[in-house]
Amino acid sequence: MALRVFGLTGGIGSGKSTAAALLRERGVPVVDADELAREAVAPGSAGLSRVLAELGQDLLGPDGALDRKRLGARVFSDETLRKRLNSITHPIVRRLSQERFSQLEKQGAELAAYDVPLLFEVGLDAALRPVVLVAAQESTQVARILARDGLSELEARARIAAQLPLSVKRERADYVVENDGTLEDLAAQVDALLPKLRA
Ligand SMILES: Nc1ncnc2c1ncn2[C@@H]1O[C@H](COP(=O)(O)OP(=O)(O)OP(=O)(O)O)[C@@H](O)[C@H]1O
Ligand SMILES: [Mg+2]
Repeated sequence: MALRVFGLTGGIGSGKSTAAALLRERGVPVVDADELAREAVAPGSAGLSRVLAELGQDLLGPDGALDRKRLGARVFSDETLRKRLNSITHPIVRRLSQERFSQLEKQGAELAAYDVPLLFEVGLDAALRPVVLVAAQESTQVARILARDGLSELEARARIAAQLPLSVKRERADYVVENDGTLEDLAAQVDALLPKLRA
């Protein structure tokens, strides 16, 4: 039986990784695009060399790893640089994700999720269906980002504003999981959704 892959997305701090953990607990493997993006520029990798060559050698940290914070600050305010970065990393991430999914298929998995924060923004919804959206109110997102990342409220709101508005994502998603409540509320929605995804 072929592997079916559904998309998992949502705004920053809305709870994708938390939903992913619940899916894994229920036996659904989740491939994390953020993790693949880190792997694409891992210490010593060809991807890292290319990023440093094109965006600046000063982005190499003393530990031999990419200084992601510095990189984030640099590309956040510069669309040309961001596009250049993406043109290096996206093909690597695509290849890594294909490897991951073919491994899962060989292991006999029938259903898996691909957790992609910017799924709609990069147009992956054209190929990846259904799409499950984890939605949270902006005030919830801000509170979670402040607590988790130690950003200021202004920085948190800027990051949210840089993403496609939640209202647009709601229209494009096949299923929406509301995550303004407790972990138990989220788990109950995941439980209700799984039979539909498995059908
Ligand atoms: N229902 C919930 N109740 C309490 N805390 C939650 C809930 N959902 C998520 N959180 C917490 O909010 C923070 C953000 O959640 P999570 O990391 O899952 O979001 P994300 O969508 O993966 O964010 P990012 O886009 O940055 O990857 C985490 O610290 C997580 O533990
Ligand atoms: Mg996450």
